[in-house]
Amino acid sequence: EALARALDALPKVDLHCHVEGTMRPTTMVELARKNGVTLPSDDPSELYTYSSLDEFLAVFWLVQSTLVDRDDWARLAYEAVTDSARHGVVHQECFFTPARHLAGGQDLAVIVAGLDEGLGAAEAETGTTCRLIADMDRAFGPEAGRQLVDELVDLRSARAPGTDRVIGIGMDSTELAVDSTTYAPAYDVARVAGLRLTGHQGENSGAQQIADCLDALGLERVDHGVPVLDDAVLTSRMVEERIPITVCPTSNVVIAHCFERLEDHVLPQMRAAGLLATVNTDDPALSDLDLGREYAAVAKAFGWGWDQMVELALDGIEASWLDDSEKAELR
Ligand code: HPA
Ligand code: ZN
Repeated sequence: EALARALDALPKVDLHCHVEGTMRPTTMVELARKNGVTLPSDDPSELYTYSSLDEFLAVFWLVQSTLVDRDDWARLAYEAVTDSARHGVVHQECFFTPARHLAGGQDLAVIVAGLDEGLGAAEAETGTTCRLIADMDRAFGPEAGRQLVDELVDLRSARAPGTDRVIGIGMDSTELAVDSTTYAPAYDVARVAGLRLTGHQGENSGAQQIADCLDALGLERVDHGVPVLDDAVLTSRMVEERIPITVCPTSNVVIAHCFERLEDHVLPQMRAAGLLATVNTDDPALSDLDLGREYAAVAKAFGWGWDQMVELALDGIEASWLDDSEKAELR
């Protein structure tokens, strides 16, 4: 339909997208074969099935296990941006979560150099710009998180190839039985080094945890943030400070089951409250999604027309970590 086509072409930014979650199922099969990783199925269409966040994370970890050498990371990054650019993404700030790879003996410098190589090639081809956010995997604990940030900061000081593309840190994976404020030492190191700060919170935890993270970690952005409206003080704080929330509506339905249907999502209430709540993909390939289709699904679910969707796209630019002149160029 016409609106869906226009929304696919509308210039958009994606601020909450895991590079591992962009892996084409066909690429996963090829990398698994190349690297000797056994998959539960050789049929690409059967690989990405899950019925809870925990099951999803198990699939995510399997995807990660197929990434072994620098070329694998470069291929993943190249395909991530060429795939998103085809659906109107002009800028993205992409997470990578290397805890599992580092624990398995891979080198952070090689991972970042590989990602940078693929992103650079895709940027040159598409014009879409891409920066990286190093995510701490909460399944590995705050000590591993701190080590990742220390190592990243050292590599940036040494001007290691590609490390200038990593502009911030975040945290992802499970929230259950995790006290995210224990990641404060890692966030402190990152802040001092001039890195930007975000974190997944409120995917399956409450508003109190979001408020705690703002206080203890100094988050400049919140990824997911679903229960924010449960806390009126938190909501007005985030409205007044223009702290963005990178919402992933379809992911919240199909991955974390926060809502039964897209129509039930609180994104409209978030935006009506004045929150800078944007729309993003999370793990597009793993949920059979692209940002064009996500915008179309959101427009349909909430009855939003072109003007409201353009406003949503402009809010995405505001919420990005581009500088003012780069933002002006995208508007
Ligand atoms: N939630 C938590 N961690 C993740 C996700 C998610 O949706 N995707 C990739 N890592
Ligand atoms: Zn996410």
